[in-house]
Amino acid sequence: MTMVESALTAGNLVNGAFRPAGAGRTFESRNPANSDDVVGVFPRSDASDVDAAVDAARTAFDGWRRTPWPSRAAIILRASELLEERKEALAQLMTREMGKVLTEARGDVQEAIDMGKFIAGQGRRAFGETVPSELRDKWAMTMRQPFGVVGCITPWNFPIAIPSWKIFPAILAGNAVVLKPAEDTPLCALRFVEALEDAGLPAGVVNVVFGFGEEAGAALVAHPDVAAIYFTGSVDTGRIVSETCGRMLKKCSLELGGKNAIVVLDDADVELAVDGALWGAFGTAGQRCTASSRLIVEQGALDQFTSRLVERASHLRLGDGLDAKVDVGPVINETQLRRIHSYTEIGKGEGASLLLGGEVASEGALAKGWFYRPTVFGDVKPAMRIAQEEIFGPTTVIIPVASMEDAITAANSTQYGLSLSVYTNDLRTAFHAINELHSGIVYINAPTIGAEIQLPFGGTRNTGNGHREAGGHVLDEFSEWKSVYIDYSGRLQRAQIDTE
Ligand code: UN1
Repeated sequence: MTMVESALTAGNLVNGAFRPAGAGRTFESRNPANSDDVVGVFPRSDASDVDAAVDAARTAFDGWRRTPWPSRAAIILRASELLEERKEALAQLMTREMGKVLTEARGDVQEAIDMGKFIAGQGRRAFGETVPSELRDKWAMTMRQPFGVVGCITPWNFPIAIPSWKIFPAILAGNAVVLKPAEDTPLCALRFVEALEDAGLPAGVVNVVFGFGEEAGAALVAHPDVAAIYFTGSVDTGRIVSETCGRMLKKCSLELGGKNAIVVLDDADVELAVDGALWGAFGTAGQRCTASSRLIVEQGALDQFTSRLVERASHLRLGDGLDAKVDVGPVINETQLRRIHSYTEIGKGEGASLLLGGEVASEGALAKGWFYRPTVFGDVKPAMRIAQEEIFGPTTVIIPVASMEDAITAANSTQYGLSLSVYTNDLRTAFHAINELHSGIVYINAPTIGAEIQLPFGGTRNTGNGHREAGGHVLDEFSEWKSVYIDYSGRLQRAQIDTE
């Protein structure tokens, strides 16, 4: 039985209360598997709504930053427990709101639960350092302090996990937050923040402003009282966010695109590599930054890999992700569907061979949603656009190469550097590849998706701007250092001058 909710009307969450957008405008969130199904109606916010949320956050900040770290952590732990209790309902809502199949939606919620428990544990481990002073009778140490009000702008593809990556550590460190979630998944974001409220988070510590990037998101980034921005989205928008933050001297953490590759070498276990490619390329209908959108295959494995992949991908079942028999859900909206299909046309125009799919699926009930057939291109050259540009859909490309070194060169040949993988049974090749692949994440004998929250997540080159989310150093992104000197000598001591 599925437990979907009926459509609701929500407000922005400002200082613990719902309020409509000042201008009274709204937008709808619809089910991508059935566009007749309205999940909810949300305020379409503008700069004045962002102002109200930032004011609420600024007011809440002082009390929150003075709340002891372990007390802040206790609320995060409680919120994680609530997410755990609500996991099934949240997963069903997620499938309804953004389409990923239910098993994957459960995984998304689980990633947030994992993150919450991990971050709560940091509440008693937010260590500073005690460092020897160069002077006598002088103590020196470091401690973390929050930035103040921070802005989080999150995407629709991991509509609970990604807000958790940003909001849990932000509030553990004592910041107050304004969240602007993607317009495609507002209700998932709201349900996530409600778990925090139900766990006892004081009003105003996390505020939610719904709406569109150009209106609400841009106003949040440009708000003078917002000290730091945490953004996940496209490279093009990331550049705009970064320009504004640069001009305003704000901290800015960007997680942008990927064009991830699985390398399959001659000595690989080919069936295992096909398992990985199917999961990595078509899981979440390919709508992950980490999706395996390139398959770089050495000549000796090429025929077997290609025929097995195409054969198995041809059996993937499209449909509503709430149906347990479905393997691949819809893509997020019509604009994305058209964009994905435009890449099929680009690939054909570039001379690649379309081996599978390449069309919108609209038979029967699929006509009500945004479905695209799992698509595989062969004979792809590393420089082709379909091998360089992020498609963000169920399309993957097979790039034949002559050697392991050519494979590594091809893998490193895009503007992105998020996740790269190699299938090999040779230990020396595996370690060589680990060294030579230029990405934030490397997998051996596993696909490019499936990062765990206790390791850093992020990428090199245009995948970001040098930051990482999650992982053991996560607090470095959400707090800044205060260096403290305590002179108990009772006399003026001059550093660098009164040396002995
Ligand atoms: C994303 O696609 O933006 O590693 C995040 C993974 C997931 C997170 C993906 N744990 O595939």
